[in-house]
Parts: sequence; structure tokens; C-alpha cells
Amino acid sequence: MHEVAKGLVGVIVTETTASMVDGSAGHLTYRGYAIEDLTAHASYEEVAYLLLHQRLPNRRELTEFQEGLAAEMTLEPYFVEVMQRFPKNSHPLTILRTLISITGVYDATANDNSLEAELRKAYRLIAYTPIFTAAWARIRQGLAPIPPDKHLSLAASFLHMHTGVNPTPAEIAALNVYLILMADHSLNPSTFTSRVVASTDSDIYSAITAALGALKGPKHGGANEATMEMFMEIGNPENVSSFFTEQVKGNGRKIMGFGHRVYRTTDPRSVILRHHTEALAKSLGNTHWFDIAAGLENLALADPYFTERRIYANVDYYSSVLLYMLGIEPNLMPLVFAIGRMAGWVTHVLEQRLENRLIHPEALYIGENDRIWVNLEDR
Ligand code: CMC
Repeated sequence: MHEVAKGLVGVIVTETTASMVDGSAGHLTYRGYAIEDLTAHASYEEVAYLLLHQRLPNRRELTEFQEGLAAEMTLEPYFVEVMQRFPKNSHPLTILRTLISITGVYDATANDNSLEAELRKAYRLIAYTPIFTAAWARIRQGLAPIPPDKHLSLAASFLHMHTGVNPTPAEIAALNVYLILMADHSLNPSTFTSRVVASTDSDIYSAITAALGALKGPKHGGANEATMEMFMEIGNPENVSSFFTEQVKGNGRKIMGFGHRVYRTTDPRSVILRHHTEALAKSLGNTHWFDIAAGLENLALADPYFTERRIYANVDYYSSVLLYMLGIEPNLMPLVFAIGRMAGWVTHVLEQRLENRLIHPEALYIGENDRIWVNLEDR
């Protein structure tokens, strides 16, 4: 037995063929395909298929996959009823986590861990997450949810369900790129969590519910929300410099959307997102939020504190601006992260099942020993 670093820094605990993160080179691949190629050419559905089925689909397979997702695209009335009872100010990720858990309650095959049953549940989870997210965004405002359009892509369908307005091709393309970039990222905290749960032979809904719990924190999937809130606090491009000097340098505040456990160079997803965020901002004729983000990034890139520690913008930095320009409120952003990551989570649950060994590490006991029992009345 040997002790490892706190936070499991640099520890390899399992094998995967889903994605490869090269933190020194700043390189990310899914099943061997570079994210640069996938975001340039693929739909989110193709990438989800690639992760789940280990290879790119041909035309017929993609159509069948889309039909399989469409077959799961419903918003059952009991979900609407329960959402209408939830407190409107609950964190939306708490709502999504609860709805995914409830999905397991209503699935008679929830405890069937065979590959066939798990694949159908994986499709359901991928299809349901954008529906739940859009429905909650509307129900919390007292609006009726908009039913999913089975003929649209997942990105287009989500945007339509969210606002009721037909999204533009530029908006659909931007969200498609974002969802692809979120689809998988090796053994990040939420994916690790899902694999721990799956390793006990528990059901997939339990694994994904637990993953959503891990995602919520601002060190992980909650970072896009915290990043957008930081940009809103800055307010104007003219305030970036004073924010950096007073808050970051003077007050020791972290730049949200910066830093990463694995990347010791630029997060390759952030490079792609910066490009698409700027393009979307220009196409909308409003670069206000992009200018704030780019201004702060430029200051950090020129500061030895950040360069010496190799702290760069991560995936949540520009994506917060991109999602905001798509009309998504900050506290809904972690749910959109979850829409993309769902393909990765379910893939890892299936991978864990293939060659499962219970994940059960140990802790080094550092507490007191040989304490003498004292009766309650004598304490
Ligand atoms: N701003 C300023 N300083 C930072 C930042 C930051 N965003 N991130 C790390 N540092 C400093 C940190 O204070 C520490 O300094 P020192 O060596 O002097 O103690 C050093 O860099 C190493 O950081 P760490 O916290 O030990 O690194 P970690 O691997 O434990 O944490 C992290 C990684 C992502 C939690 C952290 O960088 C962070 O809190 N970033 C802000 C939140 C964020 O953007 N999270 C999204 C992560 S990427 C997407 C995802 O996983 O969901």
C-alpha cells in the first residue's frame, strides 16, 4: 500500500479509450480524433455516437442514432408537475440533478445493467437533459415549457425550447461547437464520480445523479456561472484593469475560468472557444462581454504570477460569454455544460461496466488512538 498526493494529483486510477488529455502539449482527442477536427466538421450527435459506439457513424447509423434520440425526446407531464412545485429560486443544477434521479424512478429497466438496456438509457439521458434544462428555464419564470422538436438537431432543439424562437444558423453552430467541446474530458471529477458509482454495480441514473452533484461546484462545472458573474461584476471593458489590479493582484481573488488540474499550457478548448465567441459577438454586433474577457485574459497572460504557475484560460472562460450571448442566464450555464458532458458520462459508465473492478481506495488514519470511554453523564 502506498500513499498518494492529496486531490489524487497526477494519479492514474483507470484506463479509458474515450478521450485523451495531454496536459503538457495542450491536446485533446476523442477516440483518437482531435477536437479541432471534430469542432470543424462534426455535429454533436456524431460525437456522441463516436463516444458511445467507439467509431464515427456512417450516414445510416447517424440517422438511426438521431431517431433513437428522437424516440426519447418527450417531456412527460409528471416532470412538468413536479417542476411547477419546486422553489423557483433553487439552483437549476439541483433541479436537474433531482429530475435525472426521478427519471430513474419511472424507468422500469433502471436496474438492468445489460449493454442493450444501458444504451437505451444513455440515449434517454442525452435526450432528456436539454429538455429538462429548457423546461426549467421557462417554468421558473412562470412560462409554459416548449415541447422538443424531434426534427431539429440537439443544439437547435435546445435553443428553440429555451426561447420559443427559431435560432439562427450562427447560434446553432456556436452551441454545437460548445457541446462537442464539453462532450468528454477523461477522468475529471464528475466523470470519476460516475465511474465510482457504476463500479458498485449501481444503476446508471444513480451514477449520473452523483456526477451532477460533483459538477455543480465552481471548481468544476459551476465555473462558467462564476466566470460570467465575474464579467458582470467588472461590467465594462474600462474596468478590467482596475479589477485586475485591485481584486486579483491586490485582493488575491482567483480569475474564474482560469487554471486547470491537467493543462499546464493553454486549454485547447479555450482557443477554439475564443475564436467562436469573438465570431458570434461580431455577428451579433456586440463585443461588450468578449472585450471584457479578452482584456482580462491579456492582462493575466502578461503577468508573471500566471505565467510562472502556468495558469491559462480554461474551457469555462470564453464559453460563459458564448452561452450568455445565446441568451442563457449564468446559473443555467452549468446545465448546458451537463447537456454536452452527458455523452461522456454515459460512455464512461458503459466502459466501467465492461471491465469492472470495485473502486474502493483507502484513507490513511491520522486521528487519535486508544481513547478511554467516558459515560455520558461524566462528560
Ligand atoms: N486564479 C488565480 N490563481 C490561481 C487560479 C486562478 N483561477 N487557479 C489556480 N491558481 C493558483 C493557486 O492559487 C495556486 O497558487 P499557489 O501555488 O501559490 O498556492 C496555484 O495556482 C495552483 O493551483 P491549485 O488550486 O493548487 O490547482 P488545482 O489543480 O488544485 O486546481 C482549479 C485547479 C481548476 C480548481 C483552479 O485552477 C481553480 O480554482 N480555477 C478557477 C475555477 C475554474 O475555472 N474551474 C474550472 C476548471 S476547468 C473545467 C472543469 O473542470 O469543469
